[in-house]
Amino acid sequence: MKPNLSVSIAGVDFANPIMTASGCCGYGEELAVIFPLSKLGALVTKSITLKPRLGHPSPRTAETSSGMLNAIGLANVGIDKFVTDKIPFLEKQKTKIIVNVAGSKLAEYIEVCARLNDFERVDMIELNISCPNVDEGGMEFGADPKMTEKSISEVKKVFSRPVIAKLSPNVTSIVEIAKAAEQGGADAFSVINSLVGTAIDIETWQTKITNNKGGLTGPAIKPVALQMVNAVYSKCSLPIIGIGGIQSAADVIEFLLCGATAVQVGTALFIQPDLPVTIEKELKAYMKRKKLNSIDELIGKVRKY
Ligand code: FUM
Repeated sequence: MKPNLSVSIAGVDFANPIMTASGCCGYGEELAVIFPLSKLGALVTKSITLKPRLGHPSPRTAETSSGMLNAIGLANVGIDKFVTDKIPFLEKQKTKIIVNVAGSKLAEYIEVCARLNDFERVDMIELNISCPNVDEGGMEFGADPKMTEKSISEVKKVFSRPVIAKLSPNVTSIVEIAKAAEQGGADAFSVINSLVGTAIDIETWQTKITNNKGGLTGPAIKPVALQMVNAVYSKCSLPIIGIGGIQSAADVIEFLLCGATAVQVGTALFIQPDLPVTIEKELKAYMKRKKLNSIDELIGKVRKY
């Protein structure tokens, strides 16, 4: 019996549970040179804002112990160019397309999502209410339950397909924020965005990135992400896309056991861009070895003391 890797989230069917994380492969064009994007469950784009953004000046990334610090500042082409230059490419890809949306004001999120509604191949929106690297919008929205609920409910009025709330770990209670997103009508959660941190050069005494602080990603944050996925899974009823330091099929399985239905691979793509293809093969082999027919047999099945 061949294991079935397909999963379904809010009525959208994915060939497998492996997605790319926003910001780690732009709009997919470079990744498509390395492997056919049909190998992915979904491609998640870099955050799209109403106006184009250059982001913060370089250096805007720094390597840390088992991780990476970034403060890109939501650099992206903006919705006009996204629609004219990027959507035609994305529409041809045989994978699901999730567009990550960010903004400084709620009106900006709403306008971008309303524009995206016209494109049927945009299967889902991932609402970035958790970017730690901008002064307005982002984490400012996702740290406040009322703003979280309102952002989701307003976007749901203009975008007719499922909306994923991408949650921040930089809050007192991620469950409280998840519940607010659920109340606002979210269809799924992405758990987690990056953890705020910094890094300093001891020779120059200078912070290593121009924004002085940034989001920590990579294997260093995996235990935090797993715990948060499980906390949200235990208290909320929406499907979860797990994110945080995934580097192997074993990491994916941990996320599934903690309650994720799918996962996103991010920082590891900078080391091995075709990692999702390897992970898919390893996941299939694990399922065969464990005599599992479907991914559902793993979701939330962690055994606790
Ligand atoms: O700085 C950035 O563009 C990061 C975005 C995010 O973490 O959501």
